[in-house]
Amino acid sequence: MSEKKQAGGLQGVVAGQSAISTVGVGGIGLNYRGYDINDLAYKCTFEEVTYLLLKGHLPTQQQLDELKTLIWSKRYIPCKLKQILETLPKESHPMDIMRTVTSILGILEPETKSGQEYDISIRLISIFGPALLYWYHYSNSGIKINENTGKDSIAENFLKLYHLKSEIDPLVIKTFDVSLILYAEHDFAASTFAARVTVSTLSDFYSGITTAIGTLRGPLHGGANEAAMQYLEPLRSIPQADQFLNSRYQSKQLIMGFGHRVYKKEDPRSPIIKDFSLQLSKTQNGDPTLLAVSQHIEKRMVEEKKIYPNLDFYSASAYRQCGVPTPMFTAIFVISRMTGWGGHIIEQRSNNKLMRPVSDYTGPAKKQFVPIEMRNKANL
Ligand code: COA
Repeated sequence: MSEKKQAGGLQGVVAGQSAISTVGVGGIGLNYRGYDINDLAYKCTFEEVTYLLLKGHLPTQQQLDELKTLIWSKRYIPCKLKQILETLPKESHPMDIMRTVTSILGILEPETKSGQEYDISIRLISIFGPALLYWYHYSNSGIKINENTGKDSIAENFLKLYHLKSEIDPLVIKTFDVSLILYAEHDFAASTFAARVTVSTLSDFYSGITTAIGTLRGPLHGGANEAAMQYLEPLRSIPQADQFLNSRYQSKQLIMGFGHRVYKKEDPRSPIIKDFSLQLSKTQNGDPTLLAVSQHIEKRMVEEKKIYPNLDFYSASAYRQCGVPTPMFTAIFVISRMTGWGGHIIEQRSNNKLMRPVSDYTGPAKKQFVPIEMRNKANL
């Protein structure tokens, strides 16, 4: 096999340098800016991780307070954006809403000078949830929500706006917050790499993010959490789970939420989200059957195929038990990964070089040009 063929899907190709996260590097697990993902998930909030990824270090209490104030002030949805959201059909996919919100904001609040990356990142992180849920409630029931829920975290604001409640179970908020931390950053994942390619042409910040959202949507990347929930949904017993797995094995179809390009054993994020999903399953609104089925599928996949769950697998049951509808799963990933994308765009711009690889040409050898009046099937 030639060296170029080995790089199918750019597997194993080092495409640049980054100081943001370690994904399977040198056996040190997943770190964001040097901090272990377990410490961040169990001891931090998503807002602290946002600061870490965008600014390069953890915030002091004062810096965190300033960030929270900034988030609260950047939650408002401009009237023009509300008017556009009101015209979008309820059948739209939430990922299309996220991409559209980014595009519209890029027009209403364009990037006009250098050094705006942090502010625009925070603007997008703050407005994504409210804008998505404004569209959701308006298109489904004509309700115009008030996006301002006071001094709430990103997680609490999303859950309150989705459920239209003023109180949310603290474990649900913590699970949602942890999921945002886990999804926040993952090195040169396809969407992040796509964003870096876009801004490497000196394009604007919003274009980088719309590129990233479009790339995240696919089921081989961010869309896997939705795809996992779709097959888990009807499985209400172990025999049903067995039947599902056996038929997938037979037809050699992928089991979404399993496998990873870099982690060939355990995805370090998976046990963390599984822990929270299990905790939720033991609460009043939990779904122990969903967890039993999920654990059974995991056991069989690991034992029989040596393929491990990635973050998306147990995120599906965690989000379901937070009461969030399946089509919103990948859109929630956008809110979270916005922090990593922002960090990578800042990093790319700090030492930019146009990304322009070459291909291994496999087309025809040089051909004689034939004028159109002389062309026939034999000489094309
Ligand atoms: N279900 C069933 N088989 C899987 C699998 C899955 N989820 N993931 C990998 N495999 C199999 C492949 O079919 C392949 O088998 P083969 O050697 O017999 O052809 C083998 O494992 C190696 O997989 P490969 O496709 O080379 O790995 P990759 O690095 O290209 O793919 C993913 C990584 C993520 C694209 C792949 O694991 C996948 O499609 N997973 C499902 C989607 C998903 O959960 N994505 C989220 C990623 S965080």
